[in-house]
Amino acid sequence: MAKFLVQKSGPLNGEVVISGAKNAVLPLMAATILSDEECRISDVPQLRDVDVMKDILKSLGGEIKAENDGVLAVNMKKIEKCEADYDLVSRMRASFLIMGSLLGRCGRAKVYMPGGCTIGARPIDLHLKGFEALGAEIIVKDNFIEAISPEGGLKGESIYLDFPSVGATENIMAAAVLANGTTYIENAAEEPEIVDLANFLNKMGARIKGAGTDTIKIEGVERVHGASHTVIPDRIEAGTYMLAGAITRGTLLLKNMVPDHVKPITAKLRESGVTVELTDEGLYVDASGDRKLTAVDLKTLPYPGFPTDIQSPFMSFLTTVEGSSTVIETVFENRLMHVAELNRMGANIMTEGNKAVVQGCKNLEGAQVIATDLRAGAALVLAGLVASGTTEISEIYHIERGYEKFTEKFRAIGANIMRVEE
Ligand code: EPZ
Repeated sequence: MAKFLVQKSGPLNGEVVISGAKNAVLPLMAATILSDEECRISDVPQLRDVDVMKDILKSLGGEIKAENDGVLAVNMKKIEKCEADYDLVSRMRASFLIMGSLLGRCGRAKVYMPGGCTIGARPIDLHLKGFEALGAEIIVKDNFIEAISPEGGLKGESIYLDFPSVGATENIMAAAVLANGTTYIENAAEEPEIVDLANFLNKMGARIKGAGTDTIKIEGVERVHGASHTVIPDRIEAGTYMLAGAITRGTLLLKNMVPDHVKPITAKLRESGVTVELTDEGLYVDASGDRKLTAVDLKTLPYPGFPTDIQSPFMSFLTTVEGSSTVIETVFENRLMHVAELNRMGANIMTEGNKAVVQGCKNLEGAQVIATDLRAGAALVLAGLVASGTTEISEIYHIERGYEKFTEKFRAIGANIMRVEE
């Protein structure tokens, strides 16, 4: 298994070009199932998760062509089967996102039950509740979930989500596109990735309004055609590099990103004393010099609240800032596992339930640590950049799933990071 060796690195300086968003491209790729014509998606990041989604679409009968300039041509004209089996779904939880499009296009969908993962049980009850509301019959058998449309197809309905689940909003929106009549999703997720998916679906001929608000209206249409679309930049990758600049007291210019999408992160970094400015060239993050940075409290919430995916990278930063910070994780039930790893590096963090109290310390020491999820792994790399000695991070497949050219981008701004085979 590979691991990262990270050495203390001076202030990171330079430019980072942000890639297409992992959490946008996966639902976009799943949505191509709705059409029997070619779709072209640009700015597709080269990620393991994208490769898994490509394999899933191919396993259904799709034709996928990865062109050299990051363009993915997907043609789902031929759908030979309506189920995704174990070895594919088990590689990526987000495989479940094909369910809504498959149900909408074929009238049935059978997907192996997605397991939870280290950050929580991550049930899919809200997805299934939405499909049932549209008239689908749900059969759970032998660890497979099957959804079957009634005669005549799905029927538009009003659906209230108990929690603004990103995946459930995406899956139900996709299933509703070809339904008979109008669907309302209330208490819908408002993330930029939802807006990106709705924009793509509308380019395909869907009739969706309200994406980005808590109520989304989908008027069912007969069919949808092919479309071309460029993936939005990855706000979580952008946030990760903002924190990399902050924790190393460097100055970074982030290019190809949407400043509005990182507002909660910008606000918190400014509150701590980091300069974050929008310039003509991009978003400028400056934590350099002997400025005094102050501890800040944060609480993760669905968008537009503070993103749960930046909670762990931000916590790494807080371990280097004088004073006591409180971090509350409200989105996932078990997303504080990086605390134990940071404490092994000399951090002083106490946890109680979904709350962590960080006593900022002067310095961290390198240690052998484990990445417990994609973002926790990134957080440990950030901590390693300012820890004395070497930090050895294992289970880095988590990180490589979701950050394009991770070591290249970090080395280009001065990070001392190496990938080695164990
Ligand atoms: C998406 O996951 C993202 N993944 C996650 O990013 C992100 O952390 C999360 O949204 C929240 O922003 C992708 O987009 C591929 P949810 P998703 O459904 O859709 C509960 C990363 O690091 N819930 O909004 O799975 C669930 O258990 C990943 O890139 C139910 O209870 O998130 C969780 O506690 C990690 N029932 C909460 O809602 C359901 O049916 C948020 O889940 C669905 C969800």
